[in-house]
Amino acid sequence: MGKKFYITTPLYYVNAEPHIGHSYTQIATDAIARFHRFLGDNVYFMTGTDEHGEKIEKASIEAGHKKGDEKAFVDEIYERFKELWDNLDVDYDYFIRTTDKKHKEAVKYILKKLNKKGDIYKKKYRGYFCTPCEMFWSDFQAEGGICPDCKRELERIEEDNYFFKISEYQEWLTEYIESHPDFIKPDSRRNEILGLLNNNKLIDLCISRPKNRLRWGIEVPFDKDYVVYVWFDALINYISGPGYPHDMKKFKRLWPADFHIIGKDILRHHAIYWPIMLKALGLDMPKTIFAHGWWVFKGEKMSKSKGNIVDPYYLVGTYGRDTFRYFLLRDMPFGLDGSFTEDSIVRRHDSDLANDLGNLLNRTLTMVEKYFDGTIPPKPGPADVSEGGRRLSGIIKTLPDRLKDDMSGLDLNGALSSIWELVNAANKYIEDSKPWALFKEKEEVRLKQFIHNLIEGLGLAAITILPFMPSTARAMWRQLGFKEDIDKLDFKAIKRSGLSKPGIKVKKSKPLFPRIKSG
Ligand code: MSP
Repeated sequence: MGKKFYITTPLYYVNAEPHIGHSYTQIATDAIARFHRFLGDNVYFMTGTDEHGEKIEKASIEAGHKKGDEKAFVDEIYERFKELWDNLDVDYDYFIRTTDKKHKEAVKYILKKLNKKGDIYKKKYRGYFCTPCEMFWSDFQAEGGICPDCKRELERIEEDNYFFKISEYQEWLTEYIESHPDFIKPDSRRNEILGLLNNNKLIDLCISRPKNRLRWGIEVPFDKDYVVYVWFDALINYISGPGYPHDMKKFKRLWPADFHIIGKDILRHHAIYWPIMLKALGLDMPKTIFAHGWWVFKGEKMSKSKGNIVDPYYLVGTYGRDTFRYFLLRDMPFGLDGSFTEDSIVRRHDSDLANDLGNLLNRTLTMVEKYFDGTIPPKPGPADVSEGGRRLSGIIKTLPDRLKDDMSGLDLNGALSSIWELVNAANKYIEDSKPWALFKEKEEVRLKQFIHNLIEGLGLAAITILPFMPSTARAMWRQLGFKEDIDKLDFKAIKRSGLSKPGIKVKKSKPLFPRIKSG
């Protein structure tokens, strides 16, 4: 059994269909999880849906459901998320819904525990609430009654509510973040949270909504007139999913999480409320909270209410699942923002996938067919000492460790660049070696060395591409004629060179990525 690796995504709100922002977090987390399976780790990848709260209650009514029928509504949208993840080849281990019985029981258990401990009290809440963000804002934070995050008009509320004493944990949290440099990543996000903690006094967190305003939520276990604030409910998924408190054996095996992958929009909830909730419960902190950037569309973050949503179903249907996965992971460094245009998908598809990768496979297999009747020839003794040959072998040797480095810092885009260095070196090797001339001049030894080097490079490319584009990797592997199950290979296998074995019959088939634009 390998090392435990527990990784999570946020729970997506089921007020509307999934969009490319959600797909991005999901595909990135999938690639990281797949890479760790590859390292031989014992991976637990958890995702799910956030199903309570005012935003969803409203959406349910807008969709034509009666008040009280929210479950039917969330069931429909939850299916759409699951369908999309299947469509995008996302291989998670567990899907949690906040309407699951075990989760609801965990939320109640935790509330009772914190209440007993004296961390919860009741008082009048006077301030604002933003339904689209599901956020409370104080008078001081909400200048002019406008949401500091989404800039929409806020709802003024005055109601008795329950509060969680987060202010008492401020000093502890600041010190914890300061002494754990890997706790919040990237560093820019860590500095943002430290800046916030060092320059402001935390206000206790309102964790309830009275039932006369909102019914769609988990009932507060010690007051039947209230439901739990949706963020307090949802964050608990990260521990209720792996078993807290109903299966403590499983929980102890999995907790603490190795990574919480989130978007930067929900950093405060994860880097302030969540650690304090855990501390109050006497539980360990997750190892790293990584906040990635946003896909922006004409300068604005994509969101349903802004009407600038890009439909992932359309993109997958038009360009293919792996082009979509590749584009998202390659075009924007994980951690920074990127601007979305359909033209850039086409560009990535035609240049990196059709020209560089697809052509490389196609040209190589054509040469095996033409020069060696489709069968990998016996290996000649000496290695190819040409500049191109040495460069390619050098990359083949160092790539696995480079990828390990890239991925340990979650540099997904860097990992893909490293793989493309191999692809580009292999293409250059073909240009420089002029195999057609070697064939004409009957330079058999050099031609055999050349084919072996290329097949070796392509085999490694297929293996390393698998976490990012699983279907492409499998298709390459099949065409290369390799017999081992690519999904069962691990890191040790990539380090062991010698994929290219004499006698393997290649199976050239249709191009992996037909060009979209001609030329
Ligand atoms: N339900 C909360 C999270 C609770 S976690 C305990 C929530 N849900 S959400 O549906 O709004 O999803 C937010 C997440 O979707 C972001 O944190 C991010 O991971 C992803 N994205 C949503 N829009 C995005 C972009 N435009 N670009 C990149 N990712 C974005 O917040």
